[in-house]
Amino acid sequence: MPKILSNRSLKTFNTFGIDVKAKSFISITNEDDLKLVLSKNTSLPLFVLSGGSNMLLTKDVEALVIHMNIKGVTSEIKNDNEVWVTAKAGENWHDFVQLCIKNNWGGLENLSLIPGCVGSAPIQNIGAYGVELKDCFVSCKAIDKKTLKTISFDLESSQFGYRDSIFKNDAKDQYIITEVTFRLTTKNHQLKTSYGAIENQLTSKNIKSPSIEDISNAVIAIRKSKLPDPNKIGNSGSFFKNPIIEKSLYENLLKEFPEIPHYPISDTIVKVPAGWLIDKGGFKGFSMGNAAVHDKQALVLINKTGNASGIEILELAKFIQAAIQKKYSIYLEMEVNIF
Ligand code: EPU
Repeated sequence: MPKILSNRSLKTFNTFGIDVKAKSFISITNEDDLKLVLSKNTSLPLFVLSGGSNMLLTKDVEALVIHMNIKGVTSEIKNDNEVWVTAKAGENWHDFVQLCIKNNWGGLENLSLIPGCVGSAPIQNIGAYGVELKDCFVSCKAIDKKTLKTISFDLESSQFGYRDSIFKNDAKDQYIITEVTFRLTTKNHQLKTSYGAIENQLTSKNIKSPSIEDISNAVIAIRKSKLPDPNKIGNSGSFFKNPIIEKSLYENLLKEFPEIPHYPISDTIVKVPAGWLIDKGGFKGFSMGNAAVHDKQALVLINKTGNASGIEILELAKFIQAAIQKKYSIYLEMEVNIF
């Protein structure tokens, strides 16, 4: 069994770069070790960590931190246009997407450059540029922390929604995802290019019949232009979810803010971009101590100096929440998990 470390700094294990300590820490590279650790640990609460890309750590973690570092990718051809690809939880998400593109497996290209690892991707049903993880999802395997049994979750039982799944609700904290299987195409790729920024990017490069690699490159370019690189400036991507509001509230807001963007969800509710609300609230580039709102995308909070505490980031987030509530009567739910 790998060594358990005490009082290990988690600074390099969370993309915000917050310097808190784990009481105990173990890096897991196979499922047998994971089960062994789970069966032996009786005293400490468990804290599962993979890419650390969707969390804000506000205090030392008084737990056994299990760093999921199980690697491996396998594939199975299903028919002349379909391959099922299984990636272990500790695979870096972007590297996995690039591997798919290299093999000409289509479906995940719009999800290029999303930070984090494969194992945490289903938890919030990662999504970007018109594609969500659930669109290619077949199933995932997860170990029940108490019984140590391996359970398989399919598309239906995963209960995916916008940045949501059973793993954030009924199954919260019960399972550790060990691998995810995707259904990808090998020939007739269903390209999603309708997102305006992708179209513009392809046009600017004069690409008329894009490959999955062209789409991936376009997404990489767009993300690089708007989103800070967590290796340089600590951040967790979108800090808030895009709020879903009553159409009546939206219509009221339209009177005062005629240019407010919106995406209809049903006859009675619409989604509005939190980035727009925060930006037009005057917060783009706004800073409080070591924490700030990114100056190119107001939905992203950053560890501006590299020395921010989790509390500082959280205080900025709460300040913004209150200001947005006051200005638009909209509650901004945090997308990032706070610990
Ligand atoms: N906008 C502004 N100012 C800003 C940011 C956005 O006015 O500072 C406006 C844009 O002009 C646009 C609208 O808000 O009209 C939406 O902006 P954008 O297309 O950049 O997308 P988003 O809603 O801000 C969402 C996801 C991102 C994902 C992009 C692209 C959420 C919470 N965020 O952002 O996901 O990359 O769409 O699909 O749904 C993430 O989850 O970490 C993430 C980055």
